[in-house]
Amino acid sequence: MTLLHDPAVEEVLGDVNKKRILEIGCGDGPFSSLLAERSATAVGYGRSPQQIAEAQARVGLDATFVVATPHTFFHDGIFDAATSVLVLHYATSVEEIAVFFRSASPHLGPGGRFISVVINPLFSAFGQDFVVRCFARLESNNIRVEFLDRASGRDEITLENIHQYASEEFERAAISGGMKSVAWRKFFAMPDAIEQMGASFWQPCHEHQPYALFVTQK
Ligand SMILES: C[S@@+](CC[C@H](N)C(=O)[O-])C[C@H]1O[C@@H](n2cnc3c(N)ncnc32)[C@H](O)[C@@H]1O
Repeated sequence: MTLLHDPAVEEVLGDVNKKRILEIGCGDGPFSSLLAERSATAVGYGRSPQQIAEAQARVGLDATFVVATPHTFFHDGIFDAATSVLVLHYATSVEEIAVFFRSASPHLGPGGRFISVVINPLFSAFGQDFVVRCFARLESNNIRVEFLDRASGRDEITLENIHQYASEEFERAAISGGMKSVAWRKFFAMPDAIEQMGASFWQPCHEHQPYALFVTQK
């Protein structure tokens, strides 16, 4: 859903020219690299040494990648904004979500935003076919996401270590982690994404909103 998530985060960030952006849980770095292409100074961190090595192999851009978790991340400087795309729902408790905010907030200036893409707290269309993925509710707040191969319809990857938290749990974690205000936004595919995949591809996402944008501000 890079086509859905990244443009939405970019829209909230606004013009990133010369801005300093921290990307938390950057994977192999595509979003930080995109921000660097837009003349931002991006720092990405993640806990997977292999993914960070792949990110570091993306050459020639003003993006820096480090292996870290919210417990170990340190940066000598202030960012204009922080982002995390599909990361916070890996936390196994509300306190662990709070640690992401507690780690990021000292690195943000006053009014700096921390923008996250998470599993929508209000999502309930489990078992529905989302063309390339399907969500199943397991016990407690555990979720399984099956990624399907579009051509064959077969399972490509199954993720089980992700969680659906309530809005109030994310909000409590953000506030206790040092953020002052919180807001939620829905996802709608941008014209480019509609052109690429077709309107019917996005229709179930628009209707059921499996993901939500959680925008917090220091
Ligand atoms: C689904 S991937 C998303 C990667 C990237 N944000 C993207 O959208 O392509 C989740 C990423 O979060 C990272 N991650 C999850 N929990 C983390 C933690 N506690 N500390 C650092 N990174 C974490 C994982 O290593 C993984 O790269």
